[in-house]
Amino acid sequence: MTKLKVGFIGTGAITDLHYLGYKDSDLVELSAICDTDADLLEKRSKQWNVKPAYTDYRDLLSNEDIDAVEVITPHHLHAEIGKAALKAGKHVSIQKPMAINIPDCDDLIDTAERSGKLLRIFENFRYYPPMVKAKQLLDEGSIGEPLSIRIKVVQGVGGDDWEIPYRRWKWRFDPAQGGEGRVILDYGYHHFSLAIWFMGEIEKVKAWITNRTIQNGWILDSPAVAMWKYKDADKYGNYEAMTSDNLFVPSKYGRPEDEWIELSGSKGFIWINRCTSELMDRAPLVMYRDGETTEFKDIDSDWGSSFVSGVRDFAAAINDGHTSTLTGQEGKAVLQFCRALQLSAKENREVRPEEIL
Ligand SMILES: NC(=O)c1ccc[n+]([C@@H]2O[C@H](COP(=O)([O-])OP(=O)(O)OC[C@H]3O[C@@H](n4cnc5c(N)ncnc54)[C@H](O)[C@@H]3O)[C@@H](O)[C@H]2O)c1
Repeated sequence: MTKLKVGFIGTGAITDLHYLGYKDSDLVELSAICDTDADLLEKRSKQWNVKPAYTDYRDLLSNEDIDAVEVITPHHLHAEIGKAALKAGKHVSIQKPMAINIPDCDDLIDTAERSGKLLRIFENFRYYPPMVKAKQLLDEGSIGEPLSIRIKVVQGVGGDDWEIPYRRWKWRFDPAQGGEGRVILDYGYHHFSLAIWFMGEIEKVKAWITNRTIQNGWILDSPAVAMWKYKDADKYGNYEAMTSDNLFVPSKYGRPEDEWIELSGSKGFIWINRCTSELMDRAPLVMYRDGETTEFKDIDSDWGSSFVSGVRDFAAAINDGHTSTLTGQEGKAVLQFCRALQLSAKENREVRPEEIL
């Protein structure tokens, strides 16, 4: 089979994990890269042995050998670059969030439909093996009728080797580039994507978010607490994100933050005990039902595996036409959820995601 030729637009920190999907793959090949940072570009070109390397994404898009691109830049550029890539005839995978406002989501979806190319939003938590297994157990009815979801998020500190690269954070804390909301939008997008995936569409939300000033005058939206009701039944969800300044979070990938999730059903529970890091020494996935607790100790719980599966699912979807999650509409629904939470906290009222236009 001919390998799909993919270009990265943006070669920053997270592309180390994207690259895992390309290493030793029969399906995809990293065939071009682009970054406006010429030093980083040169480093990546040597590290991954990939050429050509461009500093302007339009040059990469005019390379006819490239079938598809991964857009992995700061958030405010996702929609613009995604649309240009679709118009240039490339299939497109965009890192979350697909855009920072709803009109740009609509535009992207519309451009994709007209181009006939695949648009996929890359939200890796939906590919994390314990999440995938939990979803399968839930959908099979292993814990009965789904009743609720609880999401707990912690941000702490790493070991001596953890150094926050200022350039990675600077754009995230600039509302015009990051889209506002390091916790609710940037990191939280994953959690709210899962909340929809596991349980369904959101009817209304209520949130409390503390916006506090941290170093460099940046605003951090934590602690944050939220709850929501689902559309199709009396099902509920809740979320709590804390920043614990002295909490050590062991992390293989240098990210001192983690989460755990509890799914309740009419006859049992499922716990997904980690995702981004390795906070506690517990089985990654546990299920209780019928008086028995099952620990899935041997399931792959490497966060990097979610990137490998996510990259390869995009390539497989281009080849066989299956739907690769998140679709444009799913990506938009997650953004509306995040924005509804922010609006609810700001105006101290219940908000329906459809209000967010
Ligand atoms: N769990 C996850 O899936 C996860 C984790 C971290 C980051 N992300 C997402 O990945 C994306 C990038 O995050 P990061 O941590 O790698 O950030 P980063 O700052 O390390 O990398 C962004 C890169 O984009 C480059 N860039 C900026 N403008 C560009 C342009 N016009 N053309 C080409 N390149 C340009 C920058 O020079 C930089 O190297 C964001 O969307 C972020 O939300 C996802």
